[in-house]
Amino acid sequence: MCGIVGYTGRRPAGPILLDGLRRLEYRGYDSAGIALTDDDQRMYVAVATGKLDALVQKVEGHYPPATSGLGHTRWATHGEPSDRNAHPQLDPDGRVAVIHNGIVENFEALRAKYARGPFASDTDTEVLAHMLATRVEAGLDLLDALREVVGEAEGAFSVVVMAVDQPGRLVAARVGNAGGIVVGVGDGEHLLASDLNALLSQTRRVTFLEPGELVDITADAVRYVDLDGADLAKQVEVLSYDPVSATKGPYKHFMLKETFEQPEAVLNAIRGRYLVHPHRVDLSAELPPERFSETWARDLSRIVIVGMGTSMHSAMVGRHYFERFANLPTEVDNSSEFRYRQPVLDERTLVISIAQSGETVDTLAAMDEARRAGCTQITICNTPGAQTTRVADGAILMRVGPEIAVASTKTMLASMVLLHSLALYLGRLRGALSVETEAQQVEAVLRLPSAVGEALDLAPQMQALAEQYAGAEDFLFLGRGLGLPVAMEGALKLKEVSYIHAEGYAAGEMKHGPIALIDEKMPTVALAPQDDVADKMRSNIEQVRARRGEVIAVVSHGDRGLEGVATHLVELPEVDALLCPIVSTVPLQLLAYYIGLSRGADVDQPRNLAKTVTVE
Ligand code: F6R
Repeated sequence: MCGIVGYTGRRPAGPILLDGLRRLEYRGYDSAGIALTDDDQRMYVAVATGKLDALVQKVEGHYPPATSGLGHTRWATHGEPSDRNAHPQLDPDGRVAVIHNGIVENFEALRAKYARGPFASDTDTEVLAHMLATRVEAGLDLLDALREVVGEAEGAFSVVVMAVDQPGRLVAARVGNAGGIVVGVGDGEHLLASDLNALLSQTRRVTFLEPGELVDITADAVRYVDLDGADLAKQVEVLSYDPVSATKGPYKHFMLKETFEQPEAVLNAIRGRYLVHPHRVDLSAELPPERFSETWARDLSRIVIVGMGTSMHSAMVGRHYFERFANLPTEVDNSSEFRYRQPVLDERTLVISIAQSGETVDTLAAMDEARRAGCTQITICNTPGAQTTRVADGAILMRVGPEIAVASTKTMLASMVLLHSLALYLGRLRGALSVETEAQQVEAVLRLPSAVGEALDLAPQMQALAEQYAGAEDFLFLGRGLGLPVAMEGALKLKEVSYIHAEGYAAGEMKHGPIALIDEKMPTVALAPQDDVADKMRSNIEQVRARRGEVIAVVSHGDRGLEGVATHLVELPEVDALLCPIVSTVPLQLLAYYIGLSRGADVDQPRNLAKTVTVE
């Protein structure tokens, strides 16, 4: 969850580290810090509580022209956000600096055993600096020292270290699945970061550390080893990720920009996958037929889709597609529940994971479970090179560019589209799908980018509704069938960016409890498009209205049937009923955004959250 960046080369490291941290700030923003070492074996360290700007104000123009260093933005796990708990953490003599992402679970035992003096912080990180300093002082090479230290530390984490008497050198380790380390290869320089965004303004040539690997960089050399110290060879990958799309442009917030990018995001997700002549889906580039054959598909007995948060909501939409198009029983599970409940799996189960970041610790752990059981795995991910893409047998990339706002928007739409494409593809491989249905669905998807664009035209209406309801303290979101995940997502978005308490509920459940909450102060958003459960939704809306609850009903294009029943109608653009979630999510994103804005919340970086969740 924390952001990590490191640089060694010939240019002043300070500005490069701050630039990297700026791009990583969405990962954690409780505090930030940098450490620089120069050739005279001096270490410059600065930390600041709060957002990155506090650090920038402190250091800009003050740091030495050192050409190596490391930087960190923190999402607190051990110890409150404060200067003393910010990273880098140092040993008592200030000879070794450590930045860390993830959790050292046995840090208390390590503290008792290896303290070199009093601890200055509450972090689980500081003890690593003590342990390293002891070893370096005893003459151990920094890489070997780090190998020994991570060998004793339990948990999943990544760590980057630097020693004052070895300027120009950074050593990093990845232990387990608590977020990756990307190594950037430049001309006469090397970089490290917890994710690609931090590197791409400097280089497109990268390698990725796998769990259990370490890297040792200087300006001119890079060496990879495993935990036993054996050398590893790694191929440099050249990426074509567009760093320009990681800027806000004319938008006030990344969330708004990313919401408005959705027509293009959907287009990028479908390009080359939904074909026009003939109308069919082709995923053979991602799922090579030698591995993902008709025989394999026909032999599948069921699908399990795992993900967290928004990714799980898109999985819930996907379930409908797999059951309908591929005729496969499909379950959806929250990765963190799945991993601990000894799920029944076998070689005939296809496990699909969804993760924007591709580094979510619970989703990676769920994938480990699936791998142990011998399941085939396909992942849907937005981050090229992320860990999920390397663990899965097949990876389908969203291709929507970096998503910077902590609240997911465009990746939700892309995930739903890609689940739809995968369901059609599997359906055809299995012989479960008619040519006509596939053609009709492809045709409908090709219209989606413009339908999503039309949904964005609802922005003024959603802004007006937001102003009307921004004072509410509770919200209910109701849906049935394909509307349920959208309701849950609408509630999640609102909670995240406005801090209003919101519940996303199956409309049929309302009578079994939540109806007790309804009064004139608690608005309800009801997903009520014309589908096979429309009549039932209408009854639920009437039940809310009968208890003086106000209802914002999201309805199909041209459908005025709820006029006079619901308090407000939000009319969706015309779209195939099965694709409705991909369009109806949009006004709910806008509602959440504008309510957050009205309430003065920090929409892009809501309190307590981080974009990539690499701790349990
Ligand atoms: C909500 C949100 C989170 C993520 C969740 C999973 O707006 O962004 O709920 O969806 O943390 O993240 P990924 O998809 O990276 O596994």
